[in-house]
Amino acid sequence: MTQLLPPNVAPAPLRIGGYELDSPVILAPMAGVTNMPFRVLCREIEESLTGTSSGLYVCEMITARALVERNEKTLHMTTFADVEKPRSMQLYTVDPRYTYEAVRMIVEEDIADHVDMNFGCPVPKVTRRGGGSAIPYKRKLYGNIVAAAVRAAEGSGIPITVKFRIGIDNEHHTHLDAGRIAAEEGAAAVALHARTADQRYSGMAHWGEIARLVEHMEPTGLPVIGNGDIFAAEDAARMMSETGCHGVEVGRGCLGRPWLFAQLGAQLRGEEIPGEPTLGDVSRIIYRHAELLASHDGEEHACRDIRKHTGWYLRGFPVGGEFRKNLARVESLAELSELLSTIADSTELAENADDARGRQGSSSKVALPEGWLDDPEDDTVPEGAEIDNNGG
Ligand SMILES: Cc1cc2nc3c(=O)[nH]c(=O)nc-3n(C[C@H](O)[C@H](O)[C@H](O)COP(=O)(O)O)c2cc1C
Repeated sequence: MTQLLPPNVAPAPLRIGGYELDSPVILAPMAGVTNMPFRVLCREIEESLTGTSSGLYVCEMITARALVERNEKTLHMTTFADVEKPRSMQLYTVDPRYTYEAVRMIVEEDIADHVDMNFGCPVPKVTRRGGGSAIPYKRKLYGNIVAAAVRAAEGSGIPITVKFRIGIDNEHHTHLDAGRIAAEEGAAAVALHARTADQRYSGMAHWGEIARLVEHMEPTGLPVIGNGDIFAAEDAARMMSETGCHGVEVGRGCLGRPWLFAQLGAQLRGEEIPGEPTLGDVSRIIYRHAELLASHDGEEHACRDIRKHTGWYLRGFPVGGEFRKNLARVESLAELSELLSTIADSTELAENADDARGRQGSSSKVALPEGWLDDPEDDTVPEGAEIDNNGG
């Protein structure tokens, strides 16, 4: 039986292959969000509030085939900053061949220090063709892909981890098999987004399934990372104590709240939790975020990209519609700075900030190729299920 932590006991550091994380906290890969500027921002804030930057910050998913084919945009997305140690990359892949080649490239060209694999994407465009969250149902194909990544990383010290959902729907759970197979094929850890694919991002995450996976994986010794619906520091402690998971992964809760990692790390190390920032603090964080985006992608692109973040940053703050609209139209860093200067002295705190941001939507039947559920042992590689770095 798994030993659950009493809520007041700090968990052990999280081990992923040769890496030991002082805080068992991981920034979940999020397409269009967890690029280098966002990851650096999270680290900077954690460091300034707690004196350490101790978790793992995973990049947005990189399509294995596009990497191998040296797609320019994809290569740009693989940029890491010097402060990022270990450099954590997520691969989206649907076949063993490109998986192997992509991981070999990562090893030989020293692109990353950790590779996570995405088997949770519920986008109909890819599941309809047998990609993303459809893959773990095909046990053999899934195992072949994980094995290819592990084989390609052999001797490099790069751990391979695997992220998946509970299954396709409630009639087709796959997480226990996916965990077992990942362990058999040599993965270093598994992460469970505790929803089925047909839930997409709707409803509640089923933490009970994280507990089941933890128990199932116990004989393998592999750490299990729990994911789904952590919106505040207390949620992480509660997930760990209720499920026995070894680490937590946080997605939507940190949209517009990059300081959440400082709070999560402190909570789980038993330290005092840094308080919520004031509106004035948030204005400086927005500007820093835009500055980092500009140095990575240029000012024009940065100004376009920061607009979606400002919506999240200002949730719960009484700034008024006009201000929000002006921010959403910002075209230069100078203009952004001028707008933000009007709130720089504000000591307002956000109300009801601890909630889901970004994707939520509703559940819907998973689109799958004809006959996909007939034979779980069929290892045919799905065709046309590649994604061009826009899913999730
Ligand atoms: C905008 C967005 C983009 C995402 N992109 C990815 C991705 O690239 N790879 C992946 O494995 N999961 C992706 N996800 C799923 C998250 O990593 C995470 O599993 C999910 O949001 C549940 O965690 P949460 O409740 O903490 O948000 C994405 C989620 C969102 C909201």
